[in-house]
Amino acid sequence: MTNQQTINIRGGRLMDPLTGRNGRMADIHIATGQVRAVVDSGNDLPSADIELDATNCIVSPGLVDLHVHLREPGREESETIETGSRAAALGGFTAIVAMPNTEPAQDSRIVVEFVRAQGERAGLCEVVPAGCITLGRAGEALAPYDELRDAGVRLFTDDGNGVQDPLLMRRALEYARDLDVTLAQHCEVSRLTTGAVMHEGSCCGHLGLPGWPAIAEELMVHRDIELVRLTGARIHFLHLSTQRSVDMVRVAKAQGLAITAEAAPHHFTLSDESLRSFDTVYKVNPPLRTALDIQALKDGLADGTIDAIATDHAPHASHLKEQPLDQAPPGMLGLETALALALSELTMDVYDVLAALSWKPAKIAGIDDRHGRPIAVGEPANITVFNPSVEWTVDREMVASKSKNTPYHGRVVSGKVRHTVFNGHGVVIEGVAQL
Ligand code: DOR
Repeated sequence: MTNQQTINIRGGRLMDPLTGRNGRMADIHIATGQVRAVVDSGNDLPSADIELDATNCIVSPGLVDLHVHLREPGREESETIETGSRAAALGGFTAIVAMPNTEPAQDSRIVVEFVRAQGERAGLCEVVPAGCITLGRAGEALAPYDELRDAGVRLFTDDGNGVQDPLLMRRALEYARDLDVTLAQHCEVSRLTTGAVMHEGSCCGHLGLPGWPAIAEELMVHRDIELVRLTGARIHFLHLSTQRSVDMVRVAKAQGLAITAEAAPHHFTLSDESLRSFDTVYKVNPPLRTALDIQALKDGLADGTIDAIATDHAPHASHLKEQPLDQAPPGMLGLETALALALSELTMDVYDVLAALSWKPAKIAGIDDRHGRPIAVGEPANITVFNPSVEWTVDREMVASKSKNTPYHGRVVSGKVRHTVFNGHGVVIEGVAQL
C-alpha cells in the first residue's frame, strides 16, 4: 500500500498504556503512517482526506493477537492470509501472529517470508509469522533458529503439538535463551490425549465420549516451568485452559521466572456442557473445560497471571467440521468476536482488557516498537476505534473469515469495532473493510 492517506479521528476517548484507566477525550491527526497531532477534543486539527467519527468510542492502540491460524500455505479452502487478515482488521487487530502449522510448516526462511509477503499484499494488518520449534513440527529435531531469527522471527512454537521430548525442549530453550527469542508451548502430553474428544469429567462420562484430561496440559506446564528454571530461558504458554495451569503459572511468576501466558475467549466463555449438543463446532484443543476452570482463567486475567487474550482463531471448512466428533478437526473462529466477548464476559476495566489485547501481547510477540504503542505524536498509526457498549448479534453468515465455524452464532454481545487504522490507512471504516 503506497498511497498515503491523512485521517482525523474525532470525539473519542483515547486509552493507551500511558493515559491510565480513564483515558483522555482527544482528537488525533494521522499522516504518512504516523500520529501527527493529538489535541484535546474539539480543538483545531489539520484538514484530512478522511474524517472518522469516534463519538461514544474508545480510541486505542491496535489489538494484537498472538495466536492465529491462517491456513496458507496448504489449507486455503479453510482460510487464506487475505481472508484471515480481513477478519482480523474487522475484529480491531492491527497485528496477528501466524501459527506455523501450515503445509509446508513455517520452519524455513522461504515459508516465513512467503507468509509475511502475503500479509503485506493483503495490507489489512501486520502478519507476523511464528517459526517452528522443531522441523516440520515433528518433535524430533530443532528447526534452524538462526535462519528464522535472521528472517525476523521472534516467537517459535509447534502449536497444534506440544514438544513431547524433554531433552529436545531443554535444548530448544537453551538456544532460545542465547538467541533472545521466545518459545511458545502448546501444553499437551499427547500420550494422554490419544483419541480424546472433550474434557475428561462428569459431562464426558454421561455422553460416553473419550476424555481429554486436564493433567495432559498440566504435566507439560509443570515440566516447562522447571525447564525454564533450569535454563534461564523464557517461555510463553499458549491457550491455557485449566485451573491448576493458572495456579502453577501464578506461583512461577511470583518466583521471578520469565513466563507469560495467554487464554482464549472460548475457554473463558464456554464449558464442556456445550458438547451435549454433539456439535463439532465445540471441539477444540485444548478442550472446553468446567465452570471452575472458566473462573480460574477469569481470575488469572484479572490479576495479571495471564498476560494476554489470544484467539486461537482456527478456521476449518464446513466439510471438515461436518464429520463425526472423533474425526472432525479441533478449532473455532475467534478474530471477529474476541474484543466483544472480552468486554461482555470479563469484569475487568476496559483498560485492563486493552492491556491483554494490545500492549502486553505486542511485547510478547516482540513487535512493541510498532504495535500497542501510546497514541502520541511520532508513533506508528496502528489504532482501533470501538464502541464498548453497542450490542450486536453474532451471525456466522456475516463473518469475513472463509470458514463459518464460530460457536457464538446467535449470541448477543456488546462492544463493536467501528474503525481500524493500520499503518496510517483506514482499513475498516464504519465497520466495513476497505480492502
Ligand atoms: O483447536 C485447535 N486448533 N487447537 C490447536 O492447537 C490447533 C488448532 C488448529 O490448527 O486447528
